[in-house]
Amino acid sequence: MRAKVSIIGAGMTGATTAHWLAELEIADIVLIDVVDGLAQGKALDLQQAMPVIGKDVRIAGGTEYELTENSDVVVITAGLPRKPGMSRDDLLAANAEIVRQAAMNTLKYSPNAIYIVLTNPLDVMTYLTMKVTGLPPHRVFGQAGILDSTRMATFVAEELGVSVENVHCYVLGGHGDEMVPLTHISNVAGIPLDQILPAERLDAIVERTRKGGGEIVSLLKMGSAFYAPGVAVAKMVEAVIRDKHLIAPVSAYLQGEYDLHDIYFGVAAQLGRNGIEKVLEYPLTQNEKQALKVSAAIVAENIAKLKL
Ligand code: APR
Repeated sequence: MRAKVSIIGAGMTGATTAHWLAELEIADIVLIDVVDGLAQGKALDLQQAMPVIGKDVRIAGGTEYELTENSDVVVITAGLPRKPGMSRDDLLAANAEIVRQAAMNTLKYSPNAIYIVLTNPLDVMTYLTMKVTGLPPHRVFGQAGILDSTRMATFVAEELGVSVENVHCYVLGGHGDEMVPLTHISNVAGIPLDQILPAERLDAIVERTRKGGGEIVSLLKMGSAFYAPGVAVAKMVEAVIRDKHLIAPVSAYLQGEYDLHDIYFGVAAQLGRNGIEKVLEYPLTQNEKQALKVSAAIVAENIAKLKL
């Protein structure tokens, strides 16, 4: 039987995730959106692209959650994106209600699904999804780290004039401007970044990575990034459906790792058919440990605002 992935929110990130996923030809896809006709229209358009690329994927869309029945993976992208001048945390109140609805409405039809959250503020919305569904934490996780890491890798590859295939970056922490790009674990063909790049160039790349989402928001002026977030989600869905045991930076529930408890936070984790199989702990410098603490405090403060 073919796998099934339902994407809640057929806006920029939801539709783009569907696009990347369809190319992978690993699952049938359902798009759901609260706006009448939007998900149905985009699904039909994407379906009609399949003969061109020769992919046998069924794509459906609508407003009714019945369509999501028996999904293997549910992706939640419903919610408001940022406008210039807004932080991701400014979205908290509005998006909490939307994510709560999306989580509960899908759980009814797919009690065995793995949940991947993309709505911001990411770590907080992922925590909310785990709590309201009551699912075990390994079945609920968030996409942020692949995106932040691919942004960093883009800047490093450009700076050094090397192939993106040679660059391996790891960004940990909350998905906000306090995220923690690791400069001695990230590497180019195995050589740590802090041994290749002069300190001031590396600092500039770290800073641009942290503000990477904001840079795009200020260019677009009416929404946030969608290509890179979409492909990052598709990568995670693929890891689950193909049971790849892929190690990737994701927002995972921590129970003592990095001395953090009861929080969703960006760490490297192994992903397979049952969701998160294990969380990896990197040896960190004192500065990195301190930076993670600062980032975790911000996420924890926002989780507390949910009053769960
Ligand atoms: N149920 C289903 N869909 C909803 C609901 C709801 N209750 N509320 C809003 N939506 C839909 C909107 O109709 C819209 O089509 O969510 C979609 C969001 O799409 P965009 O506005 O294009 O936003 P997008 O760029 O996709 O970002 C969505 O992901 O990356 C994060 O920060 C981003 O929080 C934002 C989310």
